[in-house]
Amino acid sequence: MPGKTLLWDQTLFRRGELFEFDYIPEQFAHRDSQLRSLMFGVRPSLAGMRPLNAICVGPPGTGKTTAVRKVFEELSEHASNVITVHVNCQANQTRYLIFSEIFRRLIGHAPPSSGVSFKKLLDEVAKYLVQNEKILIVALDDINYLFHEKESDNVLYSLLRAHETHPGTKIGVIAILSDDNLSYVFDPKVGSIFLPEEIVFPRYDWDEVRGILYDRAKLGFYSGVISEDVIDFVSDYTSEAGDIRVGIDLLKRSALSAEQRASTSISADDVRSVYERSRILHLSRTIATLNSGEQAILAILAEKTSSEVIAGDVYTAFHETTGLGYTRFHTMLAKLTSLRLIDADLVTEGMHGRSRRIELRHDSMDVLNALDAMQR
Ligand SMILES: Nc1ncnc2c1ncn2[C@@H]1O[C@H](COP(=O)(O)OP(=O)(O)OP(=O)(O)O)[C@@H](O)[C@H]1O
Ligand SMILES: [Mg+2]
Repeated sequence: MPGKTLLWDQTLFRRGELFEFDYIPEQFAHRDSQLRSLMFGVRPSLAGMRPLNAICVGPPGTGKTTAVRKVFEELSEHASNVITVHVNCQANQTRYLIFSEIFRRLIGHAPPSSGVSFKKLLDEVAKYLVQNEKILIVALDDINYLFHEKESDNVLYSLLRAHETHPGTKIGVIAILSDDNLSYVFDPKVGSIFLPEEIVFPRYDWDEVRGILYDRAKLGFYSGVISEDVIDFVSDYTSEAGDIRVGIDLLKRSALSAEQRASTSISADDVRSVYERSRILHLSRTIATLNSGEQAILAILAEKTSSEVIAGDVYTAFHETTGLGYTRFHTMLAKLTSLRLIDADLVTEGMHGRSRRIELRHDSMDVLNALDAMQR
């Protein structure tokens, strides 16, 4: 719309909160069966019974957290005898911190910051539940952050065995695992009491991505702000990234960018430049969370001239720089793969038979720049 510009207080956003990460969408398409399974698991608590445990598994941005939050919302409206606690395990990486969080939600204030033993915390939590005849359902979100030193086993064990040391307590657990490979192992001593229903959250396909973004844009922007073509364009980037969050964030930033140039609608160029900027930012953030061995692998790959290299060569260079062995190398490759930084499961037939190849999924220069930026 040439000639039309925004006044300083005009905005393209009808409801800006729809683009925030913690927003719980009213419309939650393509997740009916997962919601049903979750409801099935918590239903016994309505009748005063212990709920069934569950584990929600799937790649990032597939609606796991949202599904559990929706079920918890429902429970808080309809079941006064049930208390739900959603714990973010990235922010609370030890059993003690997780129980402090549960304590805080039940009792209404944090436990005194020093001198309270874990046992005392557990005692207080169990006492509260029994005295008030409440059933507790704990969601352990991003439980992968507890996999270090088997902390996840300790947490599950303490929650699910609480009724043995504290008769009458009724606790259920919903674990949420962000993982591409759907692979998880719990200690046998936990496996026999956890027995979770597995609820799988597959990646959204292009049409589903498009539908979700279309609904969000329609409610969140004023009409005419975004065209069908531009939504298709955002959906392409989102599918490529494999995380619906990328799309929601792109919608928000593209609209801000359009506002910035005083336009009443989002152009493909707004989307393109915003995507480029946030892609690099996201890559740098991800690389910054890696340990030095994982970063060494990326550096080795980024310095190679061809895009695909033989795994054995990478290992040799890795071993020279870090001194670490094959088992660690293998674990690190798996992690880099699940973070979508590399592809490591490519096998090709070459002159010397079959060999495993590794490919960097990002531009070498971008990776080297991100690694460089951290040295400074
Ligand atoms: N089916 C859907 N309909 C509408 N919005 C959705 C849907 N699925 C996901 N979203 C939105 O996408 C974002 C990411 O969803 P959510 O946080 O539930 O993903 P997740 O599976 O928990 O990801 P992670 O593993 O990274 O924690 C949220 O803002 C949520 O509102
Ligand atoms: Mg989540």
